Amino acid sequence: MKVLLVCLGNICRSPMAEGILRDLAKTRGIPLQVDSAATYSGHEGEHPDSRAQAEMKKRGHSIQHIRSRPITQADYLEFDRIFVMDKNNLRDVLSQAPNSTSFQKIDLFLNQAWPGKDLEVPDPYFGGQQGFERVYSLLERAAEAFLDEIDEQR
Ligand code: 4NP
Repeated sequence: MKVLLVCLGNICRSPMAEGILRDLAKTRGIPLQVDSAATYSGHEGEHPDSRAQAEMKKRGHSIQHIRSRPITQADYLEFDRIFVMDKNNLRDVLSQAPNSTSFQKIDLFLNQAWPGKDLEVPDPYFGGQQGFERVYSLLERAAEAFLDEIDEQR
């Protein structure tokens, strides 16, 4: 299965989600290909934000290899699930979906842990390190819930 995580800049939330989901899937022995992308191309080619890298390192994950890239039309066909961080991402990603099949792949990531609640991962970019801690714990809950469901289906 292939999962794409999407946020605005692909330098804070979605690279953190990518690192968490990839590492947790590996620990559980679940074959999962994970990538991340941006709805906004202004940070294309950049490493994850240093605060995101620091938070991830503290929790034992490395995301320094990730580079920001914008979502493409090919992503909608290639990935099985496309998870977004907030409602702005959701609107942007849905609006570019090429067909109804890809439309159905898209959801807010936190709906994995809190189904139907439409909760958002808050944008930590303009705050301090504490925002990144909060983002980490929300993403970890969503990733664990998503993997729990895959495990149940195996
Ligand atoms: P992200 O965070 O979407 O979680 O990567 C942001 C990154 C950049 C900006 C905003 C949020 N920005 O305004 O440039």
